[in-house]
Amino acid sequence: MKTDRQVNIVSAEFKANPFPLLATLRATEPVFRTHLPDKTKTPVWLVTRYGDVFTLLKDERFPKNRRSALTPEQIRKLPWAPPMFRPLERNMLDLDQPDHTRLRALVHKAFTPTLVEQMRRRVQALADELLEGAARRNEMDLISDYALPLPMTIITEILGVPTGDRHKFHKWSKAVVSLSSPNATARVIPSVWMFIRYLRGFFKVRRRDPQEDLASALIRAEEAGDKLTEDELLAMVFLLLIAGHETTVNLIGSGVLALLTHPDQMEKLRQEPPLIKTAIEELLRYTSPVFLSTERYARGDVTLHGVKIPRGEMTLGVIGSANRDETVFENPDSLNITREPNKHLSFGQGIHFCLGAPLARMEAQIAINTLLRRMPDLRLKVPPDSLRWRPSMVLRGLDALPVLF
Ligand code: HEM
Repeated sequence: MKTDRQVNIVSAEFKANPFPLLATLRATEPVFRTHLPDKTKTPVWLVTRYGDVFTLLKDERFPKNRRSALTPEQIRKLPWAPPMFRPLERNMLDLDQPDHTRLRALVHKAFTPTLVEQMRRRVQALADELLEGAARRNEMDLISDYALPLPMTIITEILGVPTGDRHKFHKWSKAVVSLSSPNATARVIPSVWMFIRYLRGFFKVRRRDPQEDLASALIRAEEAGDKLTEDELLAMVFLLLIAGHETTVNLIGSGVLALLTHPDQMEKLRQEPPLIKTAIEELLRYTSPVFLSTERYARGDVTLHGVKIPRGEMTLGVIGSANRDETVFENPDSLNITREPNKHLSFGQGIHFCLGAPLARMEAQIAINTLLRRMPDLRLKVPPDSLRWRPSMVLRGLDALPVLF
């Protein structure tokens, strides 16, 4: 059976329950062509089987940097983007070797297990503080009151960005991650412009007055010579700020929803908190906070399962589908917090494997266990079907999650 309709991967409707459709695609059309909901209807290929997603994420036939894949003609036809966006293209997630290797090496040492361990007590204190604040009422929006401020505060503290400014830049980053296509940048010009202006101002302050934070360390690297250009510095901090909180919020938010709708699993975890390690891996698999990989572009015509992906066309690995592949995971649609092994692809694969994975795991483990411990009567305020999912190209997460306790 062929899927005869277009799939709007950005829409809230798709994100609400994409799993039956993805199971059909895995079975019948594992390489599926649709288009993005932008003006030019950019064609996009969805790869849905585990093995294919695993390979795609590190396949040199599908580079990240579209300038190395597209023909000069295709590059000329790209929709206009404001020149001020160009520096942001110099972020490691959109580059291939050797630029990627150099940029990642510069920041890699800041994301060691030691740093994560150092942040553990701070994350715990913050989780307690946020829940104490909420406990004065008997309800909260789990997203805006807990799942979001936690990773956002931590990534701003690591970078040294004033925590008081976090609401400002969340507004801007929200606009960026809600983009319907990398070609639909016009709508986000004001947000990106203000974000860039804010960061340039922040770098000025840090140059004058360096601190023991990641931004100061990166500025030192930039000033030391040709290791990091000013554009790359901007792109790096921009990426870290966004990737550092727009993802983990979804793991905590959708993870709590998954537990609330599987009371037996939630009770098991409450009774046995050390299960949190396998529980978080299972919530990563089950909810897939980064639901689709970021874009890859076919460097030449590539044939996969007999289907030709023409040169220059955008290709995405559907991580949320790979994580439910029945040939890899037993009962893939069941939530089992003790599942082992659990080789989910939620943090990607290959050279772009998530830099923040240890931090995200630690934050989510503490956030969820603290919530279950402090709020024994936690329950949903509204029926699960009425919850709204945020429109986004690659992320899957809730707009709000009203809970009572
Ligand atoms: C649950 C939370 C998170 C999830 C599910 C997640 C997922 C991912 C995925 C799937 C990729 C690879 C994308 C691709 O190849 O297309 C990635 C890359 C990346 N992530 Fe995360 N991430 C999370 C949290 C974080 C945090 C907290 C940080 C910040 C410290 C972070 C920083 C990055 C960076 C910098 C990259 C690019 C790495 C590279 O290009 O080498 N992520 N993440």
